Amino acid sequence: MCGIVGYTGKRQAQGVLYDCLCRLEYRGYDSCGIAVNTPEVQVFKDAGKVHDILQNAPLFKGTAGLGHTRWATCGEPTQINAHPHTDCTGKICLVHNGVINNYSQLLKRLEGNGHKIVSDTDTELIAHLIEEYDKGDLEEAVRLAVKEIEGSYALVVMRSGENTLVVVRQDSPLVIGVGDGEYLVASDVPAILGYTNRVIYLDEGDIGTISPDSLKIRRNGGYIVPLVEKVNWTQDESQKAGYSHYMLKEIHEQPRVIQNTLINMPLPESFNKSEILEQSRKTGILFLACGSSYHAALTARYLVEEHLNIPVRLEVASEFNYMHRLLPCKLAVVLSQSGETADVLRAMRRLKQAGCMVVAITNVAGSTAARLADHTIYTQAGPEIGVAATKSFIAQLIVLYALCFAGASAANIRYQDYLSTMRLLPSVVQSILGSHQNIKDAAVEVAKSKSAFFIGRGINYPIALEGALKLKEISYIHAEGYAAGELKHGPFALLSPETPVLALVSRDQTYEAMLTGLREIKVRRAPLIVIGEAGDEQLGQLADRVISLPSFNRLFNPILFTVVLQLLAYYVALELGCSIDTPRNLAKSVTVE
Ligand code: F6R
Repeated sequence: MCGIVGYTGKRQAQGVLYDCLCRLEYRGYDSCGIAVNTPEVQVFKDAGKVHDILQNAPLFKGTAGLGHTRWATCGEPTQINAHPHTDCTGKICLVHNGVINNYSQLLKRLEGNGHKIVSDTDTELIAHLIEEYDKGDLEEAVRLAVKEIEGSYALVVMRSGENTLVVVRQDSPLVIGVGDGEYLVASDVPAILGYTNRVIYLDEGDIGTISPDSLKIRRNGGYIVPLVEKVNWTQDESQKAGYSHYMLKEIHEQPRVIQNTLINMPLPESFNKSEILEQSRKTGILFLACGSSYHAALTARYLVEEHLNIPVRLEVASEFNYMHRLLPCKLAVVLSQSGETADVLRAMRRLKQAGCMVVAITNVAGSTAARLADHTIYTQAGPEIGVAATKSFIAQLIVLYALCFAGASAANIRYQDYLSTMRLLPSVVQSILGSHQNIKDAAVEVAKSKSAFFIGRGINYPIALEGALKLKEISYIHAEGYAAGELKHGPFALLSPETPVLALVSRDQTYEAMLTGLREIKVRRAPLIVIGEAGDEQLGQLADRVISLPSFNRLFNPILFTVVLQLLAYYVALELGCSIDTPRNLAKSVTVE
C-alpha cells in the first residue's frame, strides 16, 4: 500500500524525503509527491514513479517536510489525486496511508461547511477536517479530526511556517526514526535505515508531535516515555548489491536466509509445550494468511497433518473475516511477511477476542502482527524489497518444517535427523542457483505463451500455486496453479500446443498418479515442462523438457521446486521486459481490506 515519510531536523528535507521514498516505493508506485516547509508549504506531486517524477521537482529549501508514494485506493492515480494534500488555505498539508470508510458522509459535511475539495481522494478530506479543528494547536486539531474518521490511517501532518510534524496511526504502520537532532517518520524501517537504526514503533491510536529537538507521544490521553529500539537490519541489506533486480538478489540470498532462519529460531516456549499440542490434537490448528503466505500455510497443512498428526484448518484471512462461526480452536498460526496485511490483522483480533492463542510467523520486527500475537517467530529473511515474495516465502517454509519436525521429534527420533538434514539445504539451494541454464531456456519458451498451468499433488500442490502466482504477478502471463488431479475436471478444455503445463513431480506416493496425469496432458499436445528428481528417467520420455533437482532428501522437494519456479518466473519476466520489482497494479504490503 502507500508509503509515507516525514522529516524534521537540520538537513535539507527534500533530499532526505526523496531518498526515503525511493526505498519505500515497493509499497506503491502509481504516483508520488513531496511537500517542504520553505517556510510556506510547497508541494510537488504527479502520477508516476518516485525517481521519474521527483527528480524533476524544483528545489525547495527547508528542513521539514513529508512525502508519499501511492497505491491508489480512492481516486485514480492522477496528479491531482497524488499526495500530499492540503486544506482550503494551503497551510495544512498531509500524507496518508489507509482508507477512510465514512468518506461519503464526511465529504457531504465538509462541502456543506463550504470546504473546496479538489481531488477524488479520501485523504484530502482529512486535511479539511483538521482545518475545521485548527485553533492553533495542531496536535489537538489532528486528535479531534481523526476521531471523526472510520477506517485505517497513518498520517504525517505539518502546517505552513513550522518545523513540527504531527503523526498518528490506526491500523496502518508508522515508525519514527530517532537521529541526532533530527527525526524521520516512515511506513516501515527500510526507508530510514540510511539515517538511523534507532526506531520507535507507534501503537494504535498514538499521536506523536515531533520537532528537531523534541518528541512527545500521546497515548490513551496521557504522554508516554517512548521505547527506542535498535533495529538489526542494515541499509546494505536494502540495496541491490550489483544485481539487476531486487528479486534476483533476494532469490540468491536464500541459502543465507535458510541458514539464519534455522540458527535464530527459538521455539516459543508455550507452543513447544506438549499441553498446547495435545489440546490442538483435539481441536486442530488454524492457519491463516494471504497470497504467498497462504501457500506456505497450505504447505504447513500437509506437514502438520502427516508428521504431527494434528488436524489443520486453513483459511485465506480475507474470507475468514466473513465466516460467522468460529470453530473451537486453541491455537492459530498466522503467516505474514510484512506483519501488516489488513485482512490478517483483522482475523488475529477476532481470534484473540475468542480466546485463541495466536502465533505469528512474520519477517518484520515491531510489525502489528508481531505486537498483536501471543508469540512471534521471526523469519530471518531481512528486508524484502521486490514486490514478489521470494526469500520470505522460503523462510516461512523453513520455519514451518523446523517447527513441525521439532514437535514430532518427541515421539520419533528420526525427526532429529530431518532437522540435521535441513542444515544442508543452503548448499543444495546454492547448487540450483549456481547452474540454471536449463531454467533460463525453459523461461524463453514459457515467455512465448499467453497462459500456463502449474500442477502438483500432495505437498507439491501449494508450490504449484506459488509458482503460478509468481509467474502471473511479474510477467503478466495468465497462470493457474492446479491440484494435478483436478486438471481433467474442466481446465483440460484449455490445453493446447500454446498452453505449457509445468509439473512438479516427486517420487513419493503421488508419483504414479502424476505420471498418469502427464500422459493425459501429453496426448492433448500441451508442451510439458517437468521439474523432477535427478535420475528419474521416466520423465525424459514424457516431457518436452525436464528440469532436474539436485539429489537430496525428497521431503524437502517443495523448497527446491520453489527456487526453480522463482527463477523461472524471473527469467520469463526478464525476457518480456517487465517491471520485475514493481509489477503493475501491485504493492508489497496490503494494508487495506
Ligand atoms: C506474492 C505476494 C503477496 C503476499 C500477500 C501477503 O508474491 O507477495 O501475495 O504474499 O500480499 O503479504 P504478507 O505476507 O505480508 O501478509
